[in-house]
Amino acid sequence: MATTTSSSASQTGSQGQLSAAWRERDHKAVAGAYSRYTDLVVQDAEGSFLIDVDGRRFLDFGCGIAVTSLGHRHPDVVRAVHRQVDSYWHTSVVTEHVRLTEAAERVAAICPDPLDTVFFANSGAEVVEGALKLARRVTRRQGIICFTGGFHGRSFGALSVTTSKVHYREGYNPLLPGVYTTPYPYCFRNCQHAVDEPCPIAAGLELERLFKHVVPAEEVAAILVEPIQGEGGYIVPPAGFLATLRRIADQHGIVLIFDEVQTGVGRTGRWLASEHDGVVPDVVTLAKALGNGLPVGAIVARGELMREWPAGSHGSTFGGNAVSLAAVVATLDVIERDGLLQRASEIGERITQRARGWQQQVGGPADVRGRGAMIGLEFMDSAGLPDAERVEAIRAACLDRGLLILGCGIDDNVIRLIPPLTISDPELDQALETLEVAVRQSGGQS
Ligand SMILES: Cc1ncc(COP(=O)(O)O)c(C=O)c1O
Repeated sequence: MATTTSSSASQTGSQGQLSAAWRERDHKAVAGAYSRYTDLVVQDAEGSFLIDVDGRRFLDFGCGIAVTSLGHRHPDVVRAVHRQVDSYWHTSVVTEHVRLTEAAERVAAICPDPLDTVFFANSGAEVVEGALKLARRVTRRQGIICFTGGFHGRSFGALSVTTSKVHYREGYNPLLPGVYTTPYPYCFRNCQHAVDEPCPIAAGLELERLFKHVVPAEEVAAILVEPIQGEGGYIVPPAGFLATLRRIADQHGIVLIFDEVQTGVGRTGRWLASEHDGVVPDVVTLAKALGNGLPVGAIVARGELMREWPAGSHGSTFGGNAVSLAAVVATLDVIERDGLLQRASEIGERITQRARGWQQQVGGPADVRGRGAMIGLEFMDSAGLPDAERVEAIRAACLDRGLLILGCGIDDNVIRLIPPLTISDPELDQALETLEVAVRQSGGQS
């Protein structure tokens, strides 16, 4: 990495003694279940960089798992949060408050019509839980359909619809009853049809089978889907898949829920990833980037549906916290004012172009995919099997050179690139240079 913008351990000459001491304390005090992607010990952050206790700087291409889209400590968000802290923080469901009304209006405004009514909570899992409860309550049906490889969170309801890895579920059964899992159109790995032929899963074949053999459509409350699968491997479904779900949901009176916790709030170059397909769900869930790092999630639904959810049938002590909502309003304002939807698309094009070059020249990823600044690089070995080892080698080499990137995928063989939307061109190019070297070296090239 350029020394002006980043410095790795080898560049600073630090041996990381302070990090080692903190790590030891961490391992004694923090639950081991709370595992970390890296062993960096962060003490500061600014813009596109994390800074560790030994003073080393890391270009953050993970954004705290698709959260800090405006980079760390964006001045407008800092200002809004400070102003709110100096005014009031918390009233809970005891009162109405101005930030809640303002943030609800603002969040509704980024969603397509007729999604116009908002319920705030604190996290992705919570809003998924809430959306599922809403669907059951208004339909008075029990069935919930979700997709293999999906990730929706760790609480019991959200975990019940999460199938990206069995490790997340291991030891927790029985989970929520009435959940039916059906294949996601992951054509690169799982489909037999030719690349230019229509995908039967995207056309609804598996859902029709489910209704025929397993659960009658009239008993299904909700279809829950990620418009692009996130933890499952940054999988973009074929065009037409979301429209198929819309058609089937309409046909059977099922509530269609798009989980845009990872894809939403501008990451893909539109406010919602589902806008790329021109399909509007009945309910959308948002979290992660919504508060640029302050904890907040939102369920956004048609007013007609929300009005059927009786007062007090769902709630939250901390949901609607004024400080988080001040961050929400500021985050959405900055994305709009600074043209960051457009910027997300530009970033994605730059990454994709470069990564496609690696496919030919340096034995790079077997597949390059994504939308906007949400790009996945999937690696397969010479036998055509998922190559998690190579992804781990690339991640380690990048980290050693001051670039933090994350993996994902059902087999851990996908690199996900989710830089801040505020990243500069030189920072982006520098990161791609570092990544290219790591990809080349991991493929046995110098
Ligand atoms: C699509 C999706 N839904 C829900 C969640 C859960 O969010 P949280 O970790 O905030 O509970 C995640 C987290 O990665 C996610 O990617």
